[in-house]
Amino acid sequence: MAERNVLIVDDDRQVRDMLQEVFSSAGYNCLVAHDGREGLAVFRSSRPPLTVTDLKMPVMDGIQFLQAVRSVDTDAAVIVLTGAADVKTAIDSLKLGAHDFIMKPVHVDELLIAADRALERRQLLIERREYQALLERRVEEATRDLATAYRQLRETYRTTLEALGSALDTRDVGTEAHSRRVHGYSLATAREHGVPEDDLTDLAHGVLLHDIGKIGIPDAILLKPGPLTADEWQIMRRHPEIGKRLIEKIPFLRGAVPIVYHHHERWDGNGYPLGLRGEEIPLGPRIFSVVDAFDAMTFDRPYSKAIPFEAARAEIKRCASAHFDPDVVESFLRVPESLLEEIRRRSFEP
Ligand SMILES: [Fe+2]
Repeated sequence: MAERNVLIVDDDRQVRDMLQEVFSSAGYNCLVAHDGREGLAVFRSSRPPLTVTDLKMPVMDGIQFLQAVRSVDTDAAVIVLTGAADVKTAIDSLKLGAHDFIMKPVHVDELLIAADRALERRQLLIERREYQALLERRVEEATRDLATAYRQLRETYRTTLEALGSALDTRDVGTEAHSRRVHGYSLATAREHGVPEDDLTDLAHGVLLHDIGKIGIPDAILLKPGPLTADEWQIMRRHPEIGKRLIEKIPFLRGAVPIVYHHHERWDGNGYPLGLRGEEIPLGPRIFSVVDAFDAMTFDRPYSKAIPFEAARAEIKRCASAHFDPDVVESFLRVPESLLEEIRRRSFEP
């Protein structure tokens, strides 16, 4: 019955004996001390849930004792005994954490009711704190689980998109690993251009899916070995619009829409589908069109042989302000050639 321990601290032997008698009869196990210092030593070793202390004592008075006890155990229930002359100090003791004070001479029933009440309040405080800690732990666990699920979901999205990008590449003859390369080139250029890291996910999604609308272009046109007729070009040029309609209703792909829809716009307004000009074109597609052209020039296609990186960079510089945003071209040209090489090499890895 450790919970029924009571520590009685009083320098007056008669009072101590009386208190001990009262508490023992009520079923408490009594620990006794003559002054604050002795009381504190007993308190430290036994940690009684309830302490009853006199205020005026030699060596360490009741207020000092109360403060010391509360600093050892903030849950300690302490009842202060006071004479009529010392009521103000007793009231002060409440501010320092005493649960109650009892006027001397002590009325037995009043003391036992105060003891019960103090222990009850102590118990409530402990339970409330434990409940709070339990809730905090649960919230923490739930947050951790949620974060894990979110990470897995993002990873699933990412790999799904990469797979879709590769699937689109294989349908488009001669553009093997194209989406992986332009993905790498775009991110490097965007970082060089000062695009915030938080915006790079949308950019990456847009790049991987830029030609998703080609799903809606008949194979006879998409895979035609010779040059396209004017009518065929008209159909081919619908792929940004088809792509936009495919993904705009998928919430996590909404950020990819600008690149899918505008990746064939030109800085001078001669592109499609809307013929937007300059900064009317969102930044994502302005970055994409530079690296897309770079990849097209530096990789063998059915009707064009690859040219060296340096020549391709010079050509892009020449086309700035006509095809491309000149500021984006500047950023692209600042990407080290070694990094471009590295991205290209990695695009062939399984
Ligand atoms: Fe395209």
